Amino acid sequence: MERRALLEAFGDRISLPSLPEVVLRINTAIEDPSIGAAQIGRIAAEDPAITARVLRLANSPFYGLREPVTSAERAVTVIGARALRNVAMQCSIVKRYEHLRELSEFDLDGLWRHVVLTARLAHAIGLASARRCQLNPDDLYACGLLHDVGKVVILDARTDEYLECLRISSRTGAPLHDAERQIFGFSHIEVGALLAREWQLPEKVAHAIEFHHGPTRAIHEHSHVGVVAIADQLAYREGTETFDSTLARLGKVAERCLGIAPATFSSLAETVRGADVEALG
Ligand SMILES: [Fe+2]
Ligand SMILES: [Fe+2]
Repeated sequence: MERRALLEAFGDRISLPSLPEVVLRINTAIEDPSIGAAQIGRIAAEDPAITARVLRLANSPFYGLREPVTSAERAVTVIGARALRNVAMQCSIVKRYEHLRELSEFDLDGLWRHVVLTARLAHAIGLASARRCQLNPDDLYACGLLHDVGKVVILDARTDEYLECLRISSRTGAPLHDAERQIFGFSHIEVGALLAREWQLPEKVAHAIEFHHGPTRAIHEHSHVGVVAIADQLAYREGTETFDSTLARLGKVAERCLGIAPATFSSLAETVRGADVEALG
């Protein structure tokens, strides 16, 4: 759907969330080769919440540092500017939609857990398929983080109608994006892609978000779309009886489309499954 048509479809009761100025400046700085990591860290240091999360990430066992990092400038040189951007976006989104926690019919924590798991899987799959996938793992993480954010954007703007979508989906077993289309004429995929473009993320990020529910041809033909779709499906099945069969099925897709050996795919999926996914925020 064209952006203009999409915005018209939203009507005047919806607005895309704007990123805080600090995060927008970080996004712009990342695309500017003349700006170094330390300088980007100094921008991040202006926001205490972002700084706290960045320090926590840089000091996590994943990076295995001997000496703890205590400044955002140094932390960015450890985790990288794109990972910093992801942390900053994560903080902003969670804060922006915190009030939706009051809705008993919507599992906000469940959604945050799902997107973080999808992001981590997309990052891990991206690392394993680096030769075939043109999008770098940190941008794939951003795809995972934003792929379903359209749900909360619509929910926030059209709460009653969106809750009806949830009821239709659970009553009929239809995928939620089909129920969204039935009610609104568009779904969270178009909204998520629009958001990625508004936030000046790489075009491939928007593209992967837009096609994470298919069609199958897009998933098979574009490696970055394939990575995000596979990560999404695997994360969706986490903790269910069908996880193992889904893992086996997606393993074949990952081998064919991304060149990942089945054993590698299983082990990375298991690693991410076992990871402690803390709530965002
Ligand atoms: Fe989705
Ligand atoms: Fe999803």
